[in-house]
Amino acid sequence: MFLSATLSFFAALCSALAAYPISSPNHQNRTTVASKLMSALVTLNATVGGRLHASVPLDKPCFSIYEGRHVPVDPVACATVQSNYTNPAFRLEHFSAYMLLQSETCQASHVPDQCVLDYTSPSDTEAYTGVDCRLGNIPSYYIEVANAADVQAALRFSNDTGVRLSVKNKGHDYKGRSSGKGTLALWTTGMNSMSHDAAFQPEGCSTTYDAVTVGAGVLTEDIYRFADQVNRTVIGGYHQTIGFAGGFALGGGHSILTPVFGLAVDRVVQVKVVTPDGVYRTANGCQHPDLFFALRGGGGSAFGVVIESSHRIEPRMPIQTAALSFTAANKTDLAEWYALTVNYSFQWANEGWGGHIPGAGLIHVNPLLSNAQANESMKAAADFVRARGGSAVVEELPSWWAFFDKYVLSAEAGVGNEVATGSRLIPSEFFSTESGRARLSALVAETLSFASPYVRAGTPWLFKGEPGATSVTPAWRDAIWHLGLSVPIPYNTTLAQREEIYRTMGEHNQRFRDLTPGSGAYFNEGYVYEPDHEVSFWGDNYPKLLEIKKKYDPNELLDCWQCVGWKGASDPLYQCYIKL
Ligand SMILES: Cc1cc2nc3c(=O)[nH]c(=O)nc-3n(C[C@H](O)[C@H](O)[C@H](O)COP(=O)(O)OP(=O)(O)OC[C@H]3O[C@@H](n4cnc5c(N)ncnc54)[C@H](O)[C@@H]3O)c2cc1C
Ligand SMILES: *[C@@H]1O[C@H](CO)[C@@H](O)[C@H](O)[C@H]1NC(C)=O
Ligand SMILES: *[C@@H]1O[C@H](CO)[C@@H](O)[C@H](O)[C@H]1NC(C)=O
Ligand SMILES: *[C@@H]1O[C@H](CO)[C@@H](O)[C@H](O)[C@H]1NC(C)=O
Ligand SMILES: *[C@@H]1O[C@H](CO)[C@@H](O)[C@H](O)[C@H]1NC(C)=O
Ligand SMILES: *[C@@H]1O[C@H](CO)[C@@H](O)[C@H](O)[C@H]1NC(C)=O
Ligand SMILES: *[C@@H]1O[C@H](CO)[C@@H](O)[C@H](O)[C@H]1NC(C)=O
Ligand SMILES: *[C@@H]1O[C@H](CO)[C@@H](O)[C@H](O)[C@H]1NC(C)=O
Ligand SMILES: *[C@@H]1O[C@H](CO)[C@@H](O)[C@H](O)[C@H]1NC(C)=O
Ligand SMILES: *[C@@H]1O[C@H](CO)[C@@H](O)[C@H](O)[C@H]1NC(C)=O
Repeated sequence: MFLSATLSFFAALCSALAAYPISSPNHQNRTTVASKLMSALVTLNATVGGRLHASVPLDKPCFSIYEGRHVPVDPVACATVQSNYTNPAFRLEHFSAYMLLQSETCQASHVPDQCVLDYTSPSDTEAYTGVDCRLGNIPSYYIEVANAADVQAALRFSNDTGVRLSVKNKGHDYKGRSSGKGTLALWTTGMNSMSHDAAFQPEGCSTTYDAVTVGAGVLTEDIYRFADQVNRTVIGGYHQTIGFAGGFALGGGHSILTPVFGLAVDRVVQVKVVTPDGVYRTANGCQHPDLFFALRGGGGSAFGVVIESSHRIEPRMPIQTAALSFTAANKTDLAEWYALTVNYSFQWANEGWGGHIPGAGLIHVNPLLSNAQANESMKAAADFVRARGGSAVVEELPSWWAFFDKYVLSAEAGVGNEVATGSRLIPSEFFSTESGRARLSALVAETLSFASPYVRAGTPWLFKGEPGATSVTPAWRDAIWHLGLSVPIPYNTTLAQREEIYRTMGEHNQRFRDLTPGSGAYFNEGYVYEPDHEVSFWGDNYPKLLEIKKKYDPNELLDCWQCVGWKGASDPLYQCYIKL
């Protein structure tokens, strides 16, 4: 038992070391470095109260080979993994499980460096019989973070040893930014405090807000339920297991209520964060306002590790809901539908609608209209859908929670798959002008042979924020759609096939970039290999963000893919990203 733990400890340690260009790569020095590192890890473990662990892939029980060695299969544990493979609640409980498999796999590897099942059919034995289960892009170690002191200890450890850090919360990142081969991960999932204060006063400020304060690990579903119990509405994302205070709120955070109430970055009033220089700080409009600006859209873990944050909330309110769906006869028919939504999106945005257009249908909500007005507004769309034998319901629900329970929880969007994504913020002129509508509709129609765009009408169109307060690209403020593209990556693709999938995604994403010069993309849901990413994600906020990054991260301890101050694709931290 002790021996096997030590062996796996050492194996993981060597994989961590392999990520580092150590000055003299001869074996003896390597061993010396390794044993020093090992004792540093033991000390770290004591400092963090024994909450340091070596990672083991979730799917390992199915495999008879692990990191090149024969291991016993555990059929019962394997069956549990198989039957829960696409269940987000199950994945949440395991450090090594991410919502998207691209976070777990070393995509750039020529030989498979991963430990995954066939997500289209988890019982498919071909995925694991005689296959070597490898750690892939999963961090070697993780700390179950309980407080700011744990983060401070990890930063010191990284500073002293050169071992790189990653930060994981609920693991929904589309770009692998919450994993990283050879890293020590800070897993913030366990900080789950929640409180409500109708007169919350950010420290050192005189203004008060009706606000909730949540620990970094609080789930979107739990904050919605809590808010409903205190007769309030929280403006958040469209999936039950997204973390609220971590990557979601740091990178933008769109909701289908965003058109009226703003993005998550518009609504945050205070963040408690351990900055990379090791200091636990409270950032708000009155204390460290530069850091607060950076945390409102700077994205990822670039500016520190969030411990808790406070967010403005709204009264409980009735929600008009439009749920439309049909089966498109063919691509021309589907293009007609998208054209209709393009035609109406300017009117809908002005009326306060927000929602998703995932393909042949839509799900929109509106907190401003009456039910009769909602029916009138959605009439053309509902007629279109009904004419095709589809279903069109426009109803009033008593609260956001009632909406979420009925339409989002019941649908339980599956996870555990692997996808390549793209994003573009589509400016208002493509909805308010005849020529803009024609050009957008034409490009959407051409794109259908590749993928049906997944449209989030979740931009802050009616919301009037404080100018310059947030650091997301200002392109969000004039956009009406955040247009998303997504294609599956089969679990068993070769490197050449993955390159082809990403290249093709890049080409299609580029056509939307070419259509909308000067606009931007959503940091959290964009293309992994976004060209000119500083401009796409932050626009003219980037130079200021970079200054703030240098101030709070003087020793360059926190870095993430295409984040502010990114060290670039050639940094060993990114060895699992394909070099396109
Ligand atoms: C099914 C699904 C639905 C989604 N729906 C929406 C939506 O409706 N609206 C929307 O805006 N986005 C949506 N997203 C994107 C989502 O907001 C981002 O992926 C978000 O970053 C996820 O947060 P997480 O805590 O789950 O992710 P993680 O993968 O754990 O982390 C994401 C990023 O945040 C960093 N991070 C995590 N915790 C902390 C912390 N405590 N301190 C500092 N940095 C931290 C990580 O290092 C990483 O860079 C969706 C994603 C998925 C997979
Ligand atoms: C270890 O590396 C150092 C340089 O970092 C070198 O001076 C020393 O000779 C090496 N030791 C051995 C045993 O190779
Ligand atoms: C850290 O300490 C705890 C408690 O002693 C132990 O269970 C755990 O295995 C240790 N972690 C590592 C990586 O050795
Ligand atoms: C996992 O699957 C088993 C068997 O199907 C089931 O009993 C269990 O509740 C599932 N666990 C979770 C967390 O969903
Ligand atoms: C990192 O090391 C430098 C000295 O090399 C020190 O000034 C700094 O405070 C350290 N940072 C952390 C977070 O330990
Ligand atoms: C809940 O909030 C609404 C809207 O602010 C208010 O009208 C209602 O009286 C509140 N109900 C309770 C039970 O507090
Ligand atoms: C597509 O479907 C529509 C509606 O059923 C039909 O009128 C049209 O002819 C079809 N077009 C093609 C190219 O099949
Ligand atoms: C969209 O509007 C254009 C004119 O702007 C019109 O030609 C077209 O038929 C409309 N499409 C649908 C599906 O409503
Ligand atoms: C709105 O349309 C729905 C059908 O989708 C209907 O049940 C409802 O009565 C209508 N509301 C009003 C106020 O007419
Ligand atoms: C992946 O698996 C599928 C069957 O599940 C098979 O058809 C395909 O050829 C495999 N691809 C590769 C690259 O092995």
